[in-house]
Amino acid sequence: MTADGAHNDAQPEEPVATADGTVRPSAAVSSPPAIGESSGIDIALADLQGLEEVVDREALRDICHSFFDLFNLSVRVFGADGTLLADAHEDAEIHAYLRTVPSARVALAKDVDAVQRLVPRKEEARHTEITGAVYDVVPLVYQGRPVGRFVVGPYLPAEMREVPAALLALGDLDRERVRDLLTAMPRVREPTAKRIRAHLRRVVDLLLFASHRAHLTSEMHVASVRASYRELAEKTAKLQSAYDRLRELDRLKSNFLATVSHELRTPLTSIIGYSEMLETGIAGELNAEQKDFVATIHGKGDQLLQLISSLLDLSKLEQGVMTLHRERVDPGELLAEVAKTMVPAAHRKSIVLETHREEGLPLVDADPVRLRQVLFNLAENAVKFTPEGGSVRFRAETTELEPEGGDTLGAVLMAAPERAIALSIEDTGIGMPPTELARIFDAFYQVDSSSTREHGGTGLGLSIVKRLIDAHGGSVRVESEPGAGTRFTVLLPETGSDIGVGGT
Ligand SMILES: Nc1ncnc2c1ncn2[C@@H]1O[C@H](COP(=O)(O)OP(=O)(O)OP(=O)(O)O)[C@@H](O)[C@H]1O
Ligand SMILES: [Mg+2]
Repeated sequence: MTADGAHNDAQPEEPVATADGTVRPSAAVSSPPAIGESSGIDIALADLQGLEEVVDREALRDICHSFFDLFNLSVRVFGADGTLLADAHEDAEIHAYLRTVPSARVALAKDVDAVQRLVPRKEEARHTEITGAVYDVVPLVYQGRPVGRFVVGPYLPAEMREVPAALLALGDLDRERVRDLLTAMPRVREPTAKRIRAHLRRVVDLLLFASHRAHLTSEMHVASVRASYRELAEKTAKLQSAYDRLRELDRLKSNFLATVSHELRTPLTSIIGYSEMLETGIAGELNAEQKDFVATIHGKGDQLLQLISSLLDLSKLEQGVMTLHRERVDPGELLAEVAKTMVPAAHRKSIVLETHREEGLPLVDADPVRLRQVLFNLAENAVKFTPEGGSVRFRAETTELEPEGGDTLGAVLMAAPERAIALSIEDTGIGMPPTELARIFDAFYQVDSSSTREHGGTGLGLSIVKRLIDAHGGSVRVESEPGAGTRFTVLLPETGSDIGVGGT
């Protein structure tokens, strides 16, 4: 017996009547792979082994219950692996009674077992139990493959008039009662039963199609997320290897810089030493022109030595091998000392120097030689980039550090303000446009390329300043306005931090 001539999934080529009464090719119902085909998804993904894999169980239960409410017929749906997926039934009173009679109980158990083992692949099957009631087992076929089954019943075929002889033969039964209870069982005429099965089958087919489509969509989504993730991982790996290569090159460059600088320093020290000796007249009196030449050799030699020292410092800082010799340092004292060394240079340009030191400034934990180098670089820049008649102000004071990301209220409330020592050097010089401020700490960077010609220098000073202060666990800030002046502020933690480059 077939479920429905117009709707047989075993013959997918035939047209299919849909729930809304329209007719479309059966392939449209049973072939969701069309979704896969158009999207190029792995076709294996579209292969469905059983109803249990994808069907929306809650929706299936709802369908069974409304079916039961509508026709008063029990229905159970099983997956391909035999799992009971939905069940809407009411125990028939005749069964409850028969179970009280031993011979009938055995016969009923055999019937239940027979129904359970009835797994038709294409055609519907029927089992008639001892009471004459029937179970219709309908295979569910999807993409030409059995994916489960549903069982309707037990119900009595309306055509049945007599109590089956086999039942009466069991003996020990109350015949009157049996007759009454059988009368109370649902009775269905065969054409009606056939229509009901076909209807249920169509509804379950539609639900399965919708569930499968949803399943495919989500699988495709997962597959595309996986593909993007893979792509991202590949790109990350490429970036990582490019980064590693750059780091290696950077390390080679620092090594090269260190070696070359070191090798240059020895002969240069001799050049400076001999030119000094010549200047002092050890090798005989020089005439004015000769003295002038030797003074130039000496001056340029000093400049070169300074450059080489800066290069060496930078390469040590970049390689992280610079050692800080920390001690308790009076920051105000150090700043005043640096200001004093600037007096001759400032005097030459009629620049006024002012120093302001806050009373009772705490000591800081720092390398005095390196901190002096930092302040000297900043002071040298201030005088260098300030025209005649300007002024440079040195200021040492305590200040409160804004917590990191300090503009959010939560961060402000949670973090106690940290105190720091602020050493600032402010000039009334040429200033810098705001766009330049982020780059001036890069090695060899100068705001105006004509600066070297006009002011000398190589653009290394600030890059060393920044790295040295970082090594001290501090920070450098800069504020500037073109034509108005510049202020550099070095912030050092009040209690010396142990963070250093290559240890202390
Ligand atoms: N106080 C300042 N006023 C205006 N511009 C400044 C000031 N300090 C630094 N700069 C700008 O920042 C650039 C970088 O400064 P940095 O100290 O690193 O190099 P430099 O002074 O040119 O050379 P070096 O310090 O190696 O002798 C300078 O060339 C200048 O353009
Ligand atoms: Mg400088």
